[in-house]
Amino acid sequence: MSSRSNHRKRVLSGMRSTGKLHLGNFVGALDNWVRMQEQYECFFFVADWHALTTDYADTSRIKQNSLEVLLDWLAAGLDPDHCTMFIQSHVPQHAELHLLLSMITPLGWLERVPTYKEQRENISEKDLGTYGFLGYPVLQAADILIYKGDFVPVGEDQVPHVELTREIARRFNMFYSGKRSYVFPEPQPLLTPAAKLPGTDGRKMSKSYGNTILLTDPEPVVRQKLKTMVTDPARVRRTDPGNPDICPVGDLHKIFSDRATIAKVDVGCRSAAIGCIECKGWAADALVSILNPMQERRRKYEENPHLAWDILEAGSARARKVASGTMDEVRAAMNMSLEYEALRVTRKQ
Ligand code: TRP
Ligand code: SF4
Repeated sequence: MSSRSNHRKRVLSGMRSTGKLHLGNFVGALDNWVRMQEQYECFFFVADWHALTTDYADTSRIKQNSLEVLLDWLAAGLDPDHCTMFIQSHVPQHAELHLLLSMITPLGWLERVPTYKEQRENISEKDLGTYGFLGYPVLQAADILIYKGDFVPVGEDQVPHVELTREIARRFNMFYSGKRSYVFPEPQPLLTPAAKLPGTDGRKMSKSYGNTILLTDPEPVVRQKLKTMVTDPARVRRTDPGNPDICPVGDLHKIFSDRATIAKVDVGCRSAAIGCIECKGWAADALVSILNPMQERRRKYEENPHLAWDILEAGSARARKVASGTMDEVRAAMNMSLEYEALRVTRKQ
């Protein structure tokens, strides 16, 4: 049963409100979202409650961080006429569904989530032994199910969360559905093809490693960051041949440069005909040509941040409408409908 069968498929995804986004966020998610907004009915939200699951102690920048994320979305080309952008905490229905889903989610399911163990072991500077941190995949399930999302574009690390969402949906449907109808469709993860984007130190680009290139970095900063970027360690001297397949700068070229440049790098590096400085300059050229139009688009909203905030507000209102419709169904399925009339119906059954 789908009440939206004649509509476009619905896509839902969120990003934590971490502040300014970097090229890894762009390649790993945002670029893909921008392409999807034409094809699907898209809901994209800033997950500020999710940010709280790890950064609960200091909330001084949380609103600013949400706004920064939105500015980068708009810069990258998400368009309020083509998708719904909103902020999680402005749609309180997510919290109500999270509460109800938490009642039916076995603890064992949460303790088995790979990111749970990993992050508790790896992040030592914060106390993650909280109820909210353990339960955050349930919140994510609520985020997805409340829009009855068909597809959830995510990176590999998030796939277990979508799987868990499917299990929770199934369990809810099993407990609370009539014979021929169920409330929640099971969402499918849409794996974002993982282009391996290295940071300046050669490790995966990540805010926590301090090796990022921001979407807002001005040209001189991009060029400077590229200069310090690690290269094929075998290429010690200018006359040593190198291998772009094991060089992080080579990886950047493969993602951002045109084919002619990639070929030029390949031949030139392996024969030591080009130097790393020259090669990095070309990589910087490619990045700058991608970032320039984004920064141009961002400027209008930076000068008028309330324009951006209005977009979030309008999107949140649209999201609340959909979310409250789902909550009516959820409450009815659980015999907790708000109307008095429903009491009679319930007792008759
Ligand atoms: N947990 C996701 C992350 O850390 C963000 C997120 C929150 C999300 N809710 C979501 C992603 C719902 C997809 C769907 O990246
Ligand atoms: Fe890397 Fe380019 Fe230097 Fe080759 S020439 S090692 S690809 S930076």
